[in-house]
Amino acid sequence: MAEELILSASANKEERYKALIPQLESLVAGEPDLIANLANIAAALKQTMNFFWVGFYLVKNNQLVLGPFQGPVACTRIAFGKGVCGTSWKEKRTIIVPNVDEFPGHIACNSASKSEIVLPVIKNNEVFLVLDVDSDKLNDFDTVDERELDKIIKMIEGMIV
Ligand code: SME
Repeated sequence: MAEELILSASANKEERYKALIPQLESLVAGEPDLIANLANIAAALKQTMNFFWVGFYLVKNNQLVLGPFQGPVACTRIAFGKGVCGTSWKEKRTIIVPNVDEFPGHIACNSASKSEIVLPVIKNNEVFLVLDVDSDKLNDFDTVDERELDKIIKMIEGMIV
């Protein structure tokens, strides 16, 4: 396919996710390289949803290490149980943080980040990587983000052999 996303400028958040996800499926179809696919997923999410920061941290040698992302430069390593990402890894669950200043141990890679959602990709009952999305607005993530981003998480789980 042509590497170009078709999006309506007037669509609301849910409509934009719903337009994006089938296009993402064809963008990654047939490409076996996980990092290439994560890079395109990060770019597509940034472009479609206009997030402040979107990217992946991969579990490597018992740490989370920065992977493909879009947005300002970010922290490269996060320990197990630290920050929102490390907590999502430890607790194997999605975490929505409406106000990062109220999350104990939040890691501020950028002071403009105000709210955050982190979803783990789990394979064989182990967290393989996390998807981290930051907003520069308070309370910017809800159950629509959780449900729609979870579809992308399932897509990524299917890519891991
Ligand atoms: N805020 C995250 C760190 C990663 S950056 O937001 C890109 C956390 O507390 O885990």
